[in-house]
Amino acid sequence: MQIDNATALVTGANRGIGLAFVECLIAHGVKKIYVGVRDLSSANSLVSLYPGLVHPIALDITNQLQIDAAVNEANDITLLINNAGANSNTALVAVDGLDNARDEMETNYFGTLSMCRAFAPILKSNGGGTIVNVLSILSLVNLPASGSYSVSKAAAYSMNQGVRAELASQQTKVIGVMPGAVDTDMAKEFEGPKEKPLDVAEAAIKAVEDGVEDVFPGDMAQAVSQGHAQDAKAVEQEFSAYIPG
Ligand SMILES: NC(=O)c1ccc[n+]([C@@H]2O[C@H](COP(=O)([O-])OP(=O)(O)OC[C@H]3O[C@@H](n4cnc5c(N)ncnc54)[C@H](OP(=O)(O)O)[C@@H]3O)[C@@H](O)[C@H]2O)c1
Repeated sequence: MQIDNATALVTGANRGIGLAFVECLIAHGVKKIYVGVRDLSSANSLVSLYPGLVHPIALDITNQLQIDAAVNEANDITLLINNAGANSNTALVAVDGLDNARDEMETNYFGTLSMCRAFAPILKSNGGGTIVNVLSILSLVNLPASGSYSVSKAAAYSMNQGVRAELASQQTKVIGVMPGAVDTDMAKEFEGPKEKPLDVAEAAIKAVEDGVEDVFPGDMAQAVSQGHAQDAKAVEQEFSAYIPG
């Protein structure tokens, strides 16, 4: 897919990696871009910077009514970037109740799946197109300090494979992006090296252009994915040291 022919929708577009996707798509000459945001005012500066190019949509991906309204409005898209995600940075056992785990599943798995389901017919009628699902290197291995988030991203990783298989016959490409730590609000507590959001977006957009299905942007993601391919148990044991608290 060539970005300069594309009309895109990015979820969670107001900050972090989502905002980097918007900037990157504009730099690559995207024709039109819908920015999905929970709070419409958070898109004001983008709209005034790029009048006529950026179109804000109120979109909480856990809200089916808002998804349905987005389908009606953004019925010309050829590129869907499912970036919105939530991370409570909490454990599986050493945490009060299941609310965080449920919220992460609602957003990262059910919300992303709902977006794929809702926009699949649109992409089909527009010639096939591409879906990018922003997953995580924690889709491959559980980080106990973010245990419930890791589970939700593992579910989304499997979903990404299943949706890819289902939509192949309608010529829709489905791409999974599995970054390591990225320098955004979500990873502000993480003290190790972090990728720049724009580098992650650039790697994903290059995969869209080249038709690559699985993207591991940055050194951490590359090292973990290669280690995982060679010895998944060793990677599990390494990550098991990062226990909550
Ligand atoms: N940062 C990392 O280290 C890292 C690593 C691997 C993967 N990722 C993934 O990258 C994606 C972007 O994360 P980020 O680092 O940019 O995080 P972030 O800075 O915390 O931004 C999260 C974005 O998602 C939006 N969002 C959250 N829940 C939503 C919902 N129910 N409906 C619609 N939008 C929602 C937020 O909107 P509001 O502004 O309204 O809250 C915000 O725009 C996520 O899928 C995340 O899991 C991040």
